[in-house]
Amino acid sequence: MIRLADFERPLFFTGAGLSVESGIPTYRGAGGVWEEYDYESYACQRAFDADPEKVWDFHDLRRAKVAEAEPNEGHRIIAETQARCPGTRIVTQNIDGLHQRAGATDVVELHGSLWRLRHKRETIENFEVPLGARRHADGGYWRPAIVWFEDALDPLVLQAAANALQECDLLVSIGTSGVVYPAAELPRIAVRRAIPCVEINPEETPVSRWYTHALRGPASEMLRSLI
Ligand code: OAD
Repeated sequence: MIRLADFERPLFFTGAGLSVESGIPTYRGAGGVWEEYDYESYACQRAFDADPEKVWDFHDLRRAKVAEAEPNEGHRIIAETQARCPGTRIVTQNIDGLHQRAGATDVVELHGSLWRLRHKRETIENFEVPLGARRHADGGYWRPAIVWFEDALDPLVLQAAANALQECDLLVSIGTSGVVYPAAELPRIAVRRAIPCVEINPEETPVSRWYTHALRGPASEMLRSLI
């Protein structure tokens, strides 16, 4: 039986399934974002270069959807665990910022954030919905500071995640399909260290066999069972 309180350095590795109970759809599967929007037209640098207004329309819709959502019990349990246990680490593939809105800090955002923009070497936070000025003062477009398809992950962010997985004493993976690399490979760092590794997901995934424990159900209920 795994109890969060028995560990000093638990690591939560999260994906879109954690935000489902906040009303935010996952990416894959029925009703998923990539079912409705073909990523090649909305979520890659080529699409942005070809039609930045169309790509921004899509990201403004996503910002609106997330802005009206609230963190759910799963986000809160993770933030409360971190508040109680300072060794807690959070590594997320999510770009919605809901961990932070639940009170979590120091979140490693592997795929960037809907709430940051970048242009050339500048990166800024911006929470407007819809975004006010799509163009920088120099006339060029801001782009969402998100790791799109075909983008490389920031090596410093990837290293921070790898270090956290190297140091944790419990891995809890939540709501990720485990098919997007290199993110999907990161849990292996903890798995190889033979520490307890829990997968929370209503469904089996291609990486389920890595885990020592499987909790098949929605994120918040399964997280509650670890308290
Ligand atoms: P996916 O959409 O690929 O997978 C979501 C997972 O959540 C699936 O395995 C579901 O079974 C599971 N799930 C569904 N409901 C759940 C619930 N209530 N509780 C727990 N789990 C639930 O999302 P990710 O694995 O996060 O990248 O996708 C990885 C990356 O692919 C994303 O970060 C995104 C996407 O392209 C970018 O946007 C850069």
